[in-house]
Amino acid sequence: MIPSELVDSFGRVHDYLRLSVTDRCNLRCVYCMPADGMEFEPDENILSFYEITEVVRVLAEMGVKKVRLTGGEPLVRKGIEELVAAIAETPGIEDIALTTNGIFLAKKAAKLKAAGLKRVNISLDTLKADRFSLITRGGDVQRVLDSIAACQQAGIWPIKLNVVLMKGINDDEIEDFLRLTLDGAVQVRFIEYMPIGHNDMRWKQSYLPLSTVLERCKQLGWETEESHDVRGNGPAQTFRIAGAKGSFGLIHPVSDHFCETCNRLRLTADGNIKPCLYWADEFNVRKHIGDDEAIRQLFFKALSIKPMNHEMAKALADESQSHVPTARRMSQIGG
Ligand code: GTP
Ligand code: 5AD
Ligand code: SF4
Repeated sequence: MIPSELVDSFGRVHDYLRLSVTDRCNLRCVYCMPADGMEFEPDENILSFYEITEVVRVLAEMGVKKVRLTGGEPLVRKGIEELVAAIAETPGIEDIALTTNGIFLAKKAAKLKAAGLKRVNISLDTLKADRFSLITRGGDVQRVLDSIAACQQAGIWPIKLNVVLMKGINDDEIEDFLRLTLDGAVQVRFIEYMPIGHNDMRWKQSYLPLSTVLERCKQLGWETEESHDVRGNGPAQTFRIAGAKGSFGLIHPVSDHFCETCNRLRLTADGNIKPCLYWADEFNVRKHIGDDEAIRQLFFKALSIKPMNHEMAKALADESQSHVPTARRMSQIGG
């Protein structure tokens, strides 16, 4: 076993890399991209598969064991299954997962599984077709449902559904989503709406704390208990409705942050190490590829300045913050 060298100044061990492979996306979700679109990085700024696998190799030697591919939408990157295969073959990497909007997944599920993908998290904020089209600005929910079925058929498990809870937009569907956990086919995770790269405060109008989900369970007369049935490397706190085969997760960065257990590093599609999702600090690794020691030193530097926590709650309360928040939108980080 490789002893981790990726320890920050608060003693947190980092064994999980969130790897954004593109800032492009086929959708325009309201919480992720501005209505008037985004300027995407030119192709020449995006790390090649070779460059990505070089960084992953060095990180695996330093103690990273789990990699999650994110975007934008990772499946818009051509040949993504080749990258999955290369990462899956990297000595030290034990878990390789994907976060996707699910639109292109039905076609690719079997190939990705064959390439070594272990599991998928799929964004799905509503089960209603018209609402899905509004939230994603044009997406077709049926394609996501077909993708879930394709993953089940391909034997990819667990399948997690990511639901960003939004006041007045999808909070009337909490019960419908929770019912999906009864037969255990999927795990549903509710996520608090985060203010990432928002230079206006409109997110607050849609933000809802996840205590809402547990209150809804109570109203329905459903008892819940903590559960640890499903693999995960991230921040979800998991529960089960008494008698249900499956479980649900709560990801509540704003109302109750989980930074003291942070085990994550991020690499953006344009080669920037982000020690924290929320803050602006970044370190570009691209020019160091080919020099393993320089890559190592840059990761040490990134970890050495990683702050103890984000301050989204302060943003919610309009209080001043201790560092500068990132200007990147979620689609440029990958969550
Ligand atoms: P598992 O390995 O299945 O646990 O995945 P995950 O929950 O780490 O990954 P996913 O991409 O599905 O992320 C779910 C949500 O958690 C997204 O909204 C992410 O932005 C959010 N998230 C993941 N890591 C962090 C983090 O370090 N800080 C904050 N604030 N949010 C995070
Ligand atoms: N707040 C919370 N979650 C978000 N995601 C994207 N933008 C936001 C946001 N502002 C989620 C997506 C996806 C994951 C990578 O991050 O739904 O599942
Ligand atoms: Fe695309 Fe995902 Fe962002 Fe939606 S949340 S715009 S699907 S990257």
